[in-house]
Amino acid sequence: MLILGIETSCDETAVAVVEDGKKIHSNLVASQVQLHKEFHGIVPEVASRKHLEVILPLLKESLKKAKLTLKEIDVVAVTYGPGLSGSLLIGLTVAKGIAFSLNLPLIGINHLEAHLHAAFLNSPPPSPPLIGLVISGGHTELVYLSENEEYELLGSTRDDAVGEAFDKVARILNLGYPGGPIIEKIARNGDPSKIKLPVPRFKGETLDFSFSGLKTAVLYMVKQLKSKNLTVPVEDIAASFQLQIARIIYERIAKAASLKKVRQVVLGGGVASNKFIRNFLLNKFREKLQIFIPPPELCTDNAVMIAALAYHKIKKGEISSLSLEVQPNLKIG
Ligand code: KG4
Ligand code: ZN
Repeated sequence: MLILGIETSCDETAVAVVEDGKKIHSNLVASQVQLHKEFHGIVPEVASRKHLEVILPLLKESLKKAKLTLKEIDVVAVTYGPGLSGSLLIGLTVAKGIAFSLNLPLIGINHLEAHLHAAFLNSPPPSPPLIGLVISGGHTELVYLSENEEYELLGSTRDDAVGEAFDKVARILNLGYPGGPIIEKIARNGDPSKIKLPVPRFKGETLDFSFSGLKTAVLYMVKQLKSKNLTVPVEDIAASFQLQIARIIYERIAKAASLKKVRQVVLGGGVASNKFIRNFLLNKFREKLQIFIPPPELCTDNAVMIAALAYHKIKKGEISSLSLEVQPNLKIG
């Protein structure tokens, strides 16, 4: 079964063709990073206009790469939430147009579930029950996926998402946008032990996250150093910040896995492409938990995860109606 996947929830236009939820025929992503750089973040209006401009050429290119025509596609899958409403609307409208004109089934996909599903393309794939963690620019969602594939939200962020914290700290350190990959790169030359950053503490038992304290600590540290005309040890700060994030993620996953008595963990979202965090978790969980992380290009926004999850949905008979609407605040589960 050939599934066309379309993803436009944020600032990446992505089109992919995946066969039977596994075999990738094409995987194209048109990034808008350069466009949003000068604003240090995503401007929704600019994002939706760009999606509109590139989506049809990208669709054409994706089919060409897959050596297929639109008529050979069996199913159309598209992200309908969560995300920016104007951006989601472009992908959904194109998907509906194709489904309607070629009389194909339409499958609406939850972007967060798709981020976790990306790990199911690993070989061997994970098998629920498991703990899932989405760590992206807009989300930090810790979930339990039961044996019969029902999601239970265990915790989420009370302030910034992890990726957002990376982006904000990079801005404080004057490193550019998006912050994640830049912090990862410069942290390689830093010594985390030289900078003490706080660990967020909550009252009572919780699986929630908080990252704004870390960001604020970096902000005050930089302000103080600058006011004394001292050099800001950017690399050490980046390394310490990244290590703290890895520790927080590790601690939350370990707690959730022990609570739910599971031995498998799935990670997804842009921050999961961070090699330091990946290795930190793999080392820490070695022999205790089996951890499944998609390859980096399937961690960041892509349409392979959309098409792959759609295959799973169609097998369960979960087909969407053509009156499907965007849901910018769609939750997981
Ligand atoms: O999943 P994603 O591509 O888009 C959303 O759904 O949000 O995630 C983007 C986020 C950005 O905040 C970016 O800074 C972060 O993922 N990111 C990283 C890395 N690559 C992307 N964070 C840390 N390390 C990275 N290597
Ligand atoms: Zn995403």
